[in-house]
Amino acid sequence: MRKTMDSDNCRVYACVNQKGGVGKSVTSTNLSIGLARHVQKILIADLDSQASQTVSLGWTQPDELSTTIATQLGKLVENKPIDPHEGILHHAEGVDLMPSSIELSGLEMRMVNAMSREIVLRNYLAEIKPDYDAIILDCPPTLGMMTINALAAADRVIVPVQPEYLSVIGMAQLFDTVALVKKQINPGLQIEGVLITLANMRMNLAKNTLAIIREAYGESVRIFRHPIPYSTKVKEASAAGKSIFAYEPNGNAAYAYGKLVKEVERNGRQIGADVRAAKEVELSR
Ligand SMILES: Nc1ncnc2c1ncn2[C@@H]1O[C@H](COP(=O)(O)OP(=O)(O)O)[C@@H](O)[C@H]1O
Ligand SMILES: [Mg+2]
Repeated sequence: MRKTMDSDNCRVYACVNQKGGVGKSVTSTNLSIGLARHVQKILIADLDSQASQTVSLGWTQPDELSTTIATQLGKLVENKPIDPHEGILHHAEGVDLMPSSIELSGLEMRMVNAMSREIVLRNYLAEIKPDYDAIILDCPPTLGMMTINALAAADRVIVPVQPEYLSVIGMAQLFDTVALVKKQINPGLQIEGVLITLANMRMNLAKNTLAIIREAYGESVRIFRHPIPYSTKVKEASAAGKSIFAYEPNGNAAYAYGKLVKEVERNGRQIGADVRAAKEVELSR
């Protein structure tokens, strides 16, 4: 396996929204595979005990997998040695997957009493970061222990949101949580952007949503330029264990996800530079 030598070069993105069904998992899949198509080495970590990411990438019996993210984090909680690469699966479209299973919900409960419980995932990722250009964390629909662990481990947060008033207003709690984790645990954490998903373009809702986001959260929050349209092909692609790029490469959803990949890539070049600059400041203290 190619080593990127320096874990500073690995960007970590958390795909977060405490609301379910907003396209976190679909976005994690298509962003990861889109980046992998640009010859990058990408890992997706499924952090949801529902394991829908694991299932939609084709491992339809996650509870039969011998090693999942729950196994690895469980060993770290108990201070046992791990082989960080154990359990990582390889998808036909060139990405790696650290799968999840229902076991993760039990682990989350055990973590509540663990020491350094917020940085268990960060400690795990530190071991595998040298092997990847980027890691995408597909978060569960809560702001619980796994999402906090994801925010503690991430460089950037991507927030998929449906173009509805209540969904947009619900982001306030998420932004507060991000701010808290940034202050207490992970000073480098930043919001990469808000991604409008499941958009029905004809109704112009996406446009209204932009206005609501601007009004509620100000100009400083980046909103990705291309909303992801509602498309039944997206669902079909998941059922087939494929990305939208493989399933319907010339459709409007593949076009929009392709644009997201480009935007994330462009912004990503800045992240490595930021991390290195922050380290230099720390060293010079
Ligand atoms: N752009 C889209 N068009 C149509 N269906 C979508 C789209 N994005 C997601 N879906 C579907 O909506 C459901 C929820 O998406 P998912 O990514 O699992 O959300 P989350 O991870 O936020 O719970 C899934 O059935 C998925 O296939
Ligand atoms: Mg999901």
